[in-house]
Amino acid sequence: MPYKSIFTGLLSLVFVIDFINTTGLTSQEIAKFQVSGNYEASVSVDSSNSEYYVISASGIPDHAWEEVNPNTPSNQNYNIKIPKTPTVATTKACVPFGKIGLTRTGVAIYNPLAAGSVNAVEGDSSETFDSCDGHASPDGAYHYHEIPNSCLYNNTVDELIGVAFDGFPIYGPNVSDISDRWINSTDLDSCHGREVSGEYRYHVTEQWPYFLGCYHGTVYDDVVTVTYDCDLSSNDWNQWLYYLCECPEGTGTGTTNTDCHPPPPPGQQCPSSISNVNSYYNSNASLLSPLTSFYSIVLLLSAIILEYM
Ligand SMILES: *[C@@H]1O[C@H](CO)[C@@H](O)[C@H](O)[C@H]1NC(C)=O
Ligand SMILES: *[C@@H]1O[C@H](CO)[C@@H](O)[C@H](O)[C@H]1NC(C)=O
Ligand SMILES: *[C@@H]1O[C@H](CO)[C@@H](O)[C@H](O)[C@H]1NC(C)=O
Ligand SMILES: *[C@@H]1O[C@H](CO)[C@@H](O)[C@H](O)[C@H]1NC(C)=O
Repeated sequence: MPYKSIFTGLLSLVFVIDFINTTGLTSQEIAKFQVSGNYEASVSVDSSNSEYYVISASGIPDHAWEEVNPNTPSNQNYNIKIPKTPTVATTKACVPFGKIGLTRTGVAIYNPLAAGSVNAVEGDSSETFDSCDGHASPDGAYHYHEIPNSCLYNNTVDELIGVAFDGFPIYGPNVSDISDRWINSTDLDSCHGREVSGEYRYHVTEQWPYFLGCYHGTVYDDVVTVTYDCDLSSNDWNQWLYYLCECPEGTGTGTTNTDCHPPPPPGQQCPSSISNVNSYYNSNASLLSPLTSFYSIVLLLSAIILEYM
């Protein structure tokens, strides 16, 4: 059965291509993990292990903060492992609640959602942030859901903001290849990143989902619980657009973008039930990476052919 080995070979090739490792943080980027020393912020990167960096940080911001909710920032003693060589994930992982990355000053970056899977940044459900664009959680973890525009981001060209826990860097919206405007979500893939000179990076933008839409790579450290199964039938993560939770339980009750994401077309309601969600978002399935779709089709075809030999 020569065909069988050909297809097995093809199958392995697809897997090899899918799991290409790429470069993570460079030494220039590592050098930018610094704090001013004027606040209780601390950050350091230990590069001694061959596989991962350990980022240690207090998680306290490197700027003044204001009490905009009942919570007070406290030392989080972060010691988080970031892969030195990120692995591109075939199945993109949903970004969970809680920290999904750290800024270059060691502060937590959160996904765009507030409790109840609603937009934490814009619309009726928006939360209150201090004048430095952050706030603390009940556990004292200070964090940003949006561009830390006022006190961290300096709007310089190609400025590093931090790193996601899959090892890929996060950059600001002022980029050297677009001169007349900030980069925005339409310039980026579902996970909210793109390749620059062959290397993948995320960008924080002014538009939903602000930081990350999903993890492009595999998260190394189990400090973060990641939902890898971006499947509507098993949870409420949206499979089609950004992989994070688009609608609480897949449904919303109104027409604004605080009820579901993306907002429904003008005059239409959010999907009313789980069974509607698939067709609702199916129309935008082409936004999925064409490469991913190609691999999936090859895999599927190979599996079917193998089965019948
Ligand atoms: C950003 O600006 C602040 C204040 O001007 C400065 O202290 C800091 O070094 C700058 N950071 C970067 C990465 O340019
Ligand atoms: C990007 O940064 C440069 C240097 O700080 C600045 O001159 C330019 O106006 C910024 N671009 C935008 C679109 O804000
Ligand atoms: C986003 O970028 C596109 C070009 O890719 C541009 O046409 C659009 O106006 C931008 N949107 C915003 C909100 O800046
Ligand atoms: C699909 O995307 C288009 C353009 O980005 C948007 O106008 C439309 O509302 C989306 N459709 C659904 C069902 O979300």
